[in-house]
Amino acid sequence: MSQVVYVNGEYVAAEDAKISVFDRGFLMADAVYEVTSVLGGKLIDFEGHVTRLQRSLSELQMMAPVSMDELLEIHRQIIARNNIDEGGVYLQVTRGADVARDFVWPDPEVVKGGIVLFGFEKPLVNAKVLEEGISVISQPDERWGRRDIKTTQLLYPSFAKMQAKQQGAGDAWFVEEGYVTEGTANNAYIVKDGVIITRQLTNDILHGITRAAILRFASEAQMKVEERPFTIEEAQSADEAFVTSATGFAQPVIKIDGVDIGTGKPGPISVRLREIYTEEMRKTAV
Ligand code: PDD
Repeated sequence: MSQVVYVNGEYVAAEDAKISVFDRGFLMADAVYEVTSVLGGKLIDFEGHVTRLQRSLSELQMMAPVSMDELLEIHRQIIARNNIDEGGVYLQVTRGADVARDFVWPDPEVVKGGIVLFGFEKPLVNAKVLEEGISVISQPDERWGRRDIKTTQLLYPSFAKMQAKQQGAGDAWFVEEGYVTEGTANNAYIVKDGVIITRQLTNDILHGITRAAILRFASEAQMKVEERPFTIEEAQSADEAFVTSATGFAQPVIKIDGVDIGTGKPGPISVRLREIYTEEMRKTAV
């Protein structure tokens, strides 16, 4: 059976789905997106993702083409129609199709926004690479300055991930003015003497939904958290490192620029946080 996707009000087979060549998401990356994980056929932290979507839209003066309640229903339909047990749902809202291809944003009353959703299967809980950890390389952060808005301008992160792959690593950590910002598609952490250190929330990084949950669970488990920038050198001499994202949960980082972190194996705090996160999210999925 072919994949069913949602495009501008309709559920269609993926091969029949159509988007205008004038869609500004396609022409200008004038679009925002969210990826929400699915566990046991249910959505993880849906409210967090929808709240961030609303913020991304409002920062770019874009309109939501459907209501937030309708969004939940469309997510559920995508899961049901594609029979997804473990994986995620991708959602993208664009500023719509405007034949003028103008750098000035079109009037949202005239040019209506576009919306696309599709689902995917992906092992999240018992995924070997997520449990065993990855090595990362550092790369200069050459993205735009509004990384707090989740836009589809993903060429630079994709370029950096490709550099990592070509060097035999699993991902890249971005570095700006000497400090780590985040990973290509995740937030970055180190652990030193029992303290979890991660960059504070500004426009320099995406405000991860998984980050918020992990920091909440860490505090509840009496772990110490410091929100501040750290360097690659500090990370290399840390006891542990890890990254968080909707599709990776908490994933250990075992090597940075060729240097083993701690024992070179996933550290106890990252492993514990991964367990807590999985348990808690199973309980609250909708
Ligand atoms: N990426 N930082 C960046 C740059 C990201 O792209 C992501 C998520 C995160 C983590 O955010 P969250 O915990 O809300 O997933 C941090 C998604 C998963 C993606 O692009 O596929």
